[in-house]
This record gives sequence, C-alpha cells and structure tokens, in this order.
Amino acid sequence: MAKAGKIVAEVLKSLKGVVAAGATTKELEQFADERIRALGGKSAFKGYRGYPSSICTSVNEVVVHGIPSSRKLKEGDIVSIDIGVFYEGFYGDAAYTFPVGAIDQDTAKLLRVTEEALYRGISMAVDGNRLFDVSHAIQEHVEKHGFSIVRTFVGHGIGRQLHEEPQVPNFGIAGQGPRLRQGMTLAIEPMVNTGTFDVRVLEDGWTAVTQDGKRSAHFEHTVAVMPNSARILTNFN
Ligand code: MF3
Ligand code: CO
Repeated sequence: MAKAGKIVAEVLKSLKGVVAAGATTKELEQFADERIRALGGKSAFKGYRGYPSSICTSVNEVVVHGIPSSRKLKEGDIVSIDIGVFYEGFYGDAAYTFPVGAIDQDTAKLLRVTEEALYRGISMAVDGNRLFDVSHAIQEHVEKHGFSIVRTFVGHGIGRQLHEEPQVPNFGIAGQGPRLRQGMTLAIEPMVNTGTFDVRVLEDGWTAVTQDGKRSAHFEHTVAVMPNSARILTNFN
C-alpha cells in the first residue's frame, strides 16, 4: 500500500506543473495515466463500475467524479484531481484541488479550509480513537469557517479493494463509530461546498455538482492508523 500510495503522490505532485489555463482536463488525464504506468501502476478508477477514465477532474461547481473532457481550464478556476492506483495487489487513493493561476480570496479560503479539515481528520486517525472522531473533526473545522460538508459521498476503507469497510463520513458525533486500530487503512476525503451541501449527479451518471452551482473543493489521502499519529501513504510534500 505504501508503494501504491507513493505512485499516487508522485503523479499528483507532477500534475502541479501541468495544471494551467488553456489545458484541457483530458490532457491532465493523458499525462496522469502515462505517469501511473511509467511508475509501474495501473489506474484504479478506469472501468470501476463502468467509470470511463483513469482519473477524476472536478472543476469549480463539480464536487467529485468529473470525467476528463475537452473542457479547457481558465484562469481563476479550481480543479480537483482524484487519482487511484493499483499496484501489486493493493490500492492507493488521493485527491488535491489545484488553483488555476490566480484565484479570488473566497476560493483560496475554500481550498485552505478543506485541506486543513483533511489534516484535522487525519490527526484523529490513531489507535484507540473512534471513527467518528475523524468525521467530527472534519465537520467542525469546515462549518466553523462557514462552509458546508457534503453528505452524499464519503471516504472509505481501502486496501486490497479500492472501497472497503468502513465508510468514512465527513460529519458525525465524536466518540462514536467503530474503534480504530493500528494497521487499519482509510481513505479520508472531505468534499466541501461554499454554499449548500446538496449535490446532484448529471445525466452522464457520474459528474456530481453542487445543487446551487457554487464552488466545491476536495482533498483526500490514504492513511494508515498508527499509535500516535497516522501515517499518510499518499504524502507528496
Ligand atoms: N476517490 C474516489 C473514491 O474513492 C474516486 C472514485 S472514482 C471511481 O470513491 F470511478 F472509481 F468511482
Ligand atoms: Co477515495
């Protein structure tokens, strides 16, 4: 899993140099797919329940599961790039929301708060805690800053399958949920909206957008529960 996670991280890191005004989301996918293969992995998303692409590219009001297309990125946009990799029997999964050039202050705050919320959640993923300690930490941070947490999609256990038990909601009551134990591996992935948390899925059956058309951000890491602090398997800093 560490190796699968490392490939995810490498590819996300190198995408930073590819995200730019004028690039299409399809170009991001082609770049990512080549890098994943060059590093010995395989996309975990392509063909998953019929999903047509190697990565998800979710622009502005798209919450998650945006399908790469001829859509051109514009200055001021944001794009969440979600990557899952299969490597020698194991999965890694992470997402990062990139700014395209200069973004407005509210959008910058959305990105900052969503990433911070992810790290607050990760900080609770330690042996002995309860799962919803993670969920609660994320929700609290997001709502404190006036944003909303998406309910319809959640994080997940991950390992020999892309999606395993348990579901990892980004909202919940601290002190509840299953006990976390060392070695459990989770994909924690807050999706945060500037307006309402309601989402709807477009006719393609995948693209999830905000009901009110306002912007949304998404950050994700695959982590292993450890005694004192979780180990982030998809870290690229
Ligand atoms: N990170 C997302 C998830 O874990 C991406 C899945 S896209 C899919 O659910 F195509 F694979 F469904
Ligand atoms: Co995931």
